[in-house]
Amino acid sequence: MPRFLKTLSRRLRQPFNSRYATRRLKEYHSQKRTLEEVVDWAMNFGGGGFMTVKTLQIPAEITQLAKAVQALNPKIIVEIGTARGGTSLIWSYLASERVITCDLNDMTFQRPLFSRFPPPGSNCQVTLLSGNSHDASFKARLTKELNGEKADFLFIDGDHTEAGVTADYNDYKEFVRPGGIIGFHDIVEKQPLATNQVYHLWKRLKPVSDVQEFVNNPNQCGFGIGILRVPGG
Ligand SMILES: C[S@@+](CC[C@H](N)C(=O)[O-])C[C@H]1O[C@@H](n2cnc3c(N)ncnc32)[C@H](O)[C@@H]1O
Repeated sequence: MPRFLKTLSRRLRQPFNSRYATRRLKEYHSQKRTLEEVVDWAMNFGGGGFMTVKTLQIPAEITQLAKAVQALNPKIIVEIGTARGGTSLIWSYLASERVITCDLNDMTFQRPLFSRFPPPGSNCQVTLLSGNSHDASFKARLTKELNGEKADFLFIDGDHTEAGVTADYNDYKEFVRPGGIIGFHDIVEKQPLATNQVYHLWKRLKPVSDVQEFVNNPNQCGFGIGILRVPGG
């Protein structure tokens, strides 16, 4: 189906999809959740069109990452690569003050839903930014949003090309506090797409940084999460 027809169809279905997503969110918020349950919701929230919430992660890997982030008692989490908000749902459970998540895509439709991700009683505010992380103006927007504060955790899961992920790392690492964590998705070398080149950067960082890997199966194709602890703190 041509792209404009797909968008039109999504817009027409928007009120129905929105009602379904609101119901699912209410169900999600109806009881106190464990981290494992939150990961399960991130993978299986479901929905349609712009209101789909989903993450393409290996549960064991994302759970290990979430536990490492939880151990930081994070106040602020920044994510490059929102997509369908699955990981944003997890960060919204963990961060006590803010989640700032960014994507190339226009997130206008998703904003009202994703901003209600934090559990009842949480003071976490979710901000969705649309734009290209490689644009200087985009970095300026994030700088303004952070207003001098540093993130406890930065998840880099946007542009997966070697140049793209390297630029994101170099441009945004300054926003993470000493002792904080920077996470990278898709670090394994065997990848389904030739443009998934995160492993090039990961191979360079590994010998010179304090790192940890969450890889479910050493022979897997795709996925794999790497974390790097920012020195100090
Ligand atoms: C793999 S998905 C993110 C998945 C999400 N973190 C999750 O697991 O639920 C990558 C997303 O990054 C976005 N992206 C790619 N390049 C980007 C860039 N330069 N700036 C901002 N977002 C980008 C894409 O639009 C896509 O939605």
